Amino acid sequence: MATKSNQLGFETRAIHAGQSPCPLTGAVVQPIYTTSTFAQDGIGENKGYLYSRAKNPTRDVLEACLADLESAQAALAFPTGLSAAATITELLDAGSEVLVHHDLYGGIYRLFTHVKSRSAGLLVKSVNFSDIEAVKAAMTPQTKMMWFETPSNPLLEIVDVETVSAIARAAGVTTVCDNTFASPYCQRPIEMGIDLVLHSATKFLNGHSDLLAGVVAASPHLETTVVERLRFLQNSVGAVLDPISCSTLLRSLKTLPVRMDRHLENAAQIAAFLKGNQGRLGIERLNFPGLGDHPGYAIASRQMKGYGSLMSFEVSGGEARANRVAQKMNLFAFAVSLGGVESLVQHPASMTHKIVPKKQRDALGITESLLRLSVGIELCSDLIADLEQALS
Ligand SMILES: Cc1ncc(COP(=O)(O)O)c(C=O)c1O
Repeated sequence: MATKSNQLGFETRAIHAGQSPCPLTGAVVQPIYTTSTFAQDGIGENKGYLYSRAKNPTRDVLEACLADLESAQAALAFPTGLSAAATITELLDAGSEVLVHHDLYGGIYRLFTHVKSRSAGLLVKSVNFSDIEAVKAAMTPQTKMMWFETPSNPLLEIVDVETVSAIARAAGVTTVCDNTFASPYCQRPIEMGIDLVLHSATKFLNGHSDLLAGVVAASPHLETTVVERLRFLQNSVGAVLDPISCSTLLRSLKTLPVRMDRHLENAAQIAAFLKGNQGRLGIERLNFPGLGDHPGYAIASRQMKGYGSLMSFEVSGGEARANRVAQKMNLFAFAVSLGGVESLVQHPASMTHKIVPKKQRDALGITESLLRLSVGIELCSDLIADLEQALS
């Protein structure tokens, strides 16, 4: 199925890619191989498996499905998005220069500035990837990798994936696009020229806030040796997703398209409600790429199907009011993370982006008044009523 399934629709592939009934029992749901080790037939002889850190049948099925959905030659499943990100950086030699988007999830920012710049000597340069001229100007002969999120966390900035990929490829620079906010249902960066796609699968891919996972998907344009290197690095650092989580994530992928449709519909309605009542609700700035006045609207409309279900806004009244509003919400739990069926609200300056120095946060617009919503799949009128009572 995995090889032929690119002819089929995304919805069909989300259910079937990489999967067929178990040849032994006919089980339609993929078995979970919880074994850590595999009996060998002789020296150098086995059925393709030796030890589950290196390769596990349940993980194989999940990875085949993920690769198919991202139009990748291969995908690798990690225990978290951050371990997936850290393993990608291991592709680089010590001292390499990496250009990163200025608006990055705080954990990825921390990985680059507090860990890899020290332990691997990476020279990390922050650039506004929404500004193509700025990207070109920041490139040097030492640039080895470009790394961005689109939409970005938490400002929902949009990067022109095709243009950045083309510039990077011409210069022999590896591109990494964090597709966590969009999911492959809304955006497939590899089809737009990106080399490696990263996911916190903890988010939309799993969608139920009940596991942590990460994914790296590799473009068919890359030499197979890059995938072999990634697998070697993943095994070397021991960053593999356990079989039970693999099975849960595989199950979750089957409903990704239906969940996403509802996420997109709810988010579009909520953004319109907040925009239409901005003055009355004391909202000073609203970031949602599906709004016509968002600077990335045209690019998002071209490269995405829908605009995701994340949005952020600044409230008037500073941190005190942001805190009151977040606490007053009943259906939006005041919690980090995103992409689950339940709606969440969080305060980036004190939560997901606390690690970013205040001066830098302020310069970017991650102020104390900023709240970020992850719109879930509840009944939209209930969510709007909750926002109305919390903001008015
Ligand atoms: C855009 C983005 N990338 C990566 C990560 C890290 O993923 P994880 O929390 O699964 O390690 C997150 C987590 O919030 C994220 O929002």
